[in-house]
Amino acid sequence: MACQYFAPCDHGAHSFTIAIPKVTFGRGTLSEVGARAQSLGMSDIALFTDGGLLDSEYVATVKDSLTAAGIAFQIFSEIRIEPDDFCVEQGAAFIKSGQFDGMISVGGGSVIDTAKAAVVCAKHDSPLLPFFAKPIGEGKAITEALLPHIACPTTSGTGSECTSIAVVRIRDLNTKFVIASPLMLPDQAVIDPQCCDTLPANVVASTGFDLLSHALECYTAKAYTQWAPIDNPNARPLIQGANPWSDLAATKALQIAGEYLDRGVNDASDKQARDQLMWGASLAGMAFGNSGTHMPHAMSYGITHLMRDITTDGYAVKTPFVPHGISVIVTAPACFRYTAEGAPERHLEAAGYLQADQQGAGLEDAGEVLAKRMIELMRQTHMPNGLSGVGFGESDIKAMAASSVRQTRAIANAPRESNLADLENIYADAVSYW
Ligand SMILES: [Fe+2]
Repeated sequence: MACQYFAPCDHGAHSFTIAIPKVTFGRGTLSEVGARAQSLGMSDIALFTDGGLLDSEYVATVKDSLTAAGIAFQIFSEIRIEPDDFCVEQGAAFIKSGQFDGMISVGGGSVIDTAKAAVVCAKHDSPLLPFFAKPIGEGKAITEALLPHIACPTTSGTGSECTSIAVVRIRDLNTKFVIASPLMLPDQAVIDPQCCDTLPANVVASTGFDLLSHALECYTAKAYTQWAPIDNPNARPLIQGANPWSDLAATKALQIAGEYLDRGVNDASDKQARDQLMWGASLAGMAFGNSGTHMPHAMSYGITHLMRDITTDGYAVKTPFVPHGISVIVTAPACFRYTAEGAPERHLEAAGYLQADQQGAGLEDAGEVLAKRMIELMRQTHMPNGLSGVGFGESDIKAMAASSVRQTRAIANAPRESNLADLENIYADAVSYW
């Protein structure tokens, strides 16, 4: 099946590129950060974290290991969930104020993404906006080698420690966009699942669905052979389509989500489940960081752009806020119902990895079988019931679709083409599931 999906195409790409950091995984590995920083030649470090983690045992462990290795550091913790360009530029100013030769980020995707984007701005002495693709920015190239970076995730979802992208809210547009460059890939990821022991259930669920959707989107993405060949070997876009590598990591991540998501959310003492989800999140990052996501992520930006005043348990956020994983999962079942027609065998296989009941199902049922299993997992983990569960209704559909349709390359990475009317139909299907 895999060979067939990647069959050469006359005018398509014949190659794909894989990049991942050096990865260390295991309980207690945060205590290795000092020695790892030493091996990268770091002597004076910008340590990025957020206010909630500043006094945590995780940051304390990293600080102790740096001190033991004789490495100086200064902390920047002015990072909020869903960081914006202002936050990134504050981080860049902090970096420029010192003589740092290394970056260590300790936190969730917001912290790691802020660190990645801030080192770009600091090195190029530039605001962030010009680096976004046109027409949002100027498509300014990232040309300079960046500070070596060790990324230490404290949630099991974004996989940001293993990708070369950062997602940042642009304040003036009130929406999120992606900035990407191979130079933004962290040099090392130090993944200590101990960080997830005390995460609230709702955070494990939201981040867990982020990982699940990363893996699903990678596995069902358009094949890399269907994208046009590239002119410059050093400028292959991150969104290059499904490939044998992303299949490898995504299928394992799907198996992990199918087996452990319910357990990890509903039983905080189930360390096996939480450890597995942490590994699954990094695997899914290694997958989508080398293939790209597609419609659920593109459509999540329409939700966070127009989000209402909802409260979400487990997050210390006062402003209107929909956690990223929730913004993805509320439309994902409807998205896969739509995209299944473009790659039905892959949608059915993915449902199988998630332990869906496939009895008697044929390829024509693939989208529904997958959506049904996702909805079952959403209900088991107390997720909102589609868009209506996060405060949206029919009257918001046009505005959300108009926002999401700008995520052109992600939408083009789906196995089935779509236009503005199709996006509106998918949002309509996502209003409620049960
Ligand atoms: Fe995501």
